[in-house]
Amino acid sequence: MFFSIEMGYKDKLDKDNIPEHVAIIMDGNGRWATEKGQMRLVGHATGVESVRESLTAASEINVKFLTLYAFSTENWNRPKEEVDGLMDLLVNTISNEIESLNNNDVRLLTIGNTPDLPDSCRNELLNAIKRTEKNKGTVLVLALNYSAKNEIKQAIKRIAEEYKSGDIELDDIDDELVENHLYTAGIPDPELMIRTSGEIRISNFLLWQLAYSELHFTSVFWPDFKKEDFYRAIYEYQTRERRFGLIGEQLNELDKND
Ligand code: IPE
Ligand code: IPE
Ligand code: MG
Repeated sequence: MFFSIEMGYKDKLDKDNIPEHVAIIMDGNGRWATEKGQMRLVGHATGVESVRESLTAASEINVKFLTLYAFSTENWNRPKEEVDGLMDLLVNTISNEIESLNNNDVRLLTIGNTPDLPDSCRNELLNAIKRTEKNKGTVLVLALNYSAKNEIKQAIKRIAEEYKSGDIELDDIDDELVENHLYTAGIPDPELMIRTSGEIRISNFLLWQLAYSELHFTSVFWPDFKKEDFYRAIYEYQTRERRFGLIGEQLNELDKND
């Protein structure tokens, strides 16, 4: 008798080539719910389980940073009911999950214009950030009230002020200086960016940081995105040749010299 044991994607991963930073545009909650005849908010609430799945998967294979796009500055323009529901979900989820984040050694950070979030959200986030700050495992970075264009604009303004006050010279403005003024200062660029729901666009997410990221688009709606989908994206990433402007032969030479 022949039988085969189907290996999951996790077992097929090259442990020496795990991305340090994975970023995800969690998209498709609304369509997922609508297809099931439910309110869009049901999709958002169900999407929280996919956040847990991805975070656990990332931790298990030692992805150091997992950035999740949770709310864009453009999302304020959605119907008030949905925006309010999303803010409530955020507050409740954060407060419910702090213990689990600590049990799993996960540290929480945020990027985006978080000072402008409603007080209840901001306070809950500050509390969770403080209570997880000593954790040494995966860093969960939530992009909230986030816009990449705004991130770049505020960096330009701060750099211009430093120049005007004489703290820096024009020649000091290099990649490193710009990066130190982004919300993501201290966080490496994502090697891999995943977007669910079949949309093939960036939607104002990490425009600077994604310059050389590998992009993975899947038609799965976010509430259906499970650990195996995450591992599959990493597996597919590992089949890519990241060339950074070089030609294949040069990369082979570099490999030989490793
Ligand atoms: C992503 O799902 C969650 C947020 C943007 C907050 P959507 O709410 O965008 O779901 P679709 O794209 O309308 O299906
Ligand atoms: C991007 O999704 C923002 C988040 C996932 C938080 P959207 O659903 O808002 O993006 P568009 O409108 O389809 O580009
Ligand atoms: Mg969407």
